Amino acid sequence: MEIDLTKLEPRHSHDLLTSSIIPRPIAWVSSINEDGQSNIAPFSFFTGVSWAPPIIAFSVVNRSDGTKKDTVINIQKVPEFVVNIVSVDQLSVMEVTAKPIPYGEDESFIYGIHLIPSKKIKPHRIQEAKISFECSLERIVRVNEGPNAGNLILGHVKLVHIDDRVLRNDKEVDSTMLDALGRLSGKYYCTTQSIIESEKN
Ligand SMILES: Cc1cc2nc3c(=O)[nH]c(=O)nc-3n(C[C@H](O)[C@H](O)[C@H](O)COP(=O)(O)O)c2cc1C
Repeated sequence: MEIDLTKLEPRHSHDLLTSSIIPRPIAWVSSINEDGQSNIAPFSFFTGVSWAPPIIAFSVVNRSDGTKKDTVINIQKVPEFVVNIVSVDQLSVMEVTAKPIPYGEDESFIYGIHLIPSKKIKPHRIQEAKISFECSLERIVRVNEGPNAGNLILGHVKLVHIDDRVLRNDKEVDSTMLDALGRLSGKYYCTTQSIIESEKN
């Protein structure tokens, strides 16, 4: 079967892409507006881009009415953000932070997480996250304007916070200890607890 995405409703393209590109890590992003109010939201169109300089990226898709999500509005105004990594036991609270709330309403009082000051940037980081990347905005690549168009946000990692318990040999993260949550599609997620070892490496 061949599927021509130009003939599909955006919702169907969404379902096809998000159920094909799996598993996806989740960037749990904290940003602030000009008044210093915090916003937190998860984004699973998330990946690494470069390690010299260290750049990571996530994509925030416009709402179906064409408006920009709060994370994009904030980062345009205050070009810094923290990408926190979500562990399995944080699934429920992460989903609470995905609910749309009115712009400018402070999200630092969500039950189950605490925001604490970052070292090099203004937006706070999530204390409970086992890994947090303090980033300054490198650039935003807009693929289009209007409904469902993506805004790829590239961040230059300035500082990494890692819980001592997940660090191995002072330089590598122990995947079992991190227990990162992966996104599938719809209401489905996955874990990294089933590991396959390559015979060639
Ligand atoms: C696990 C998960 C992954 C998500 N991934 C994305 C994504 O990659 N891009 C996106 O635009 N929205 C994604 N969302 C939806 C946003 O989190 C949601 O629209 C949120 O309200 C945006 O918040 P904001 O307006 O405060 O930026 C995801 C939601 C969940 C629960």
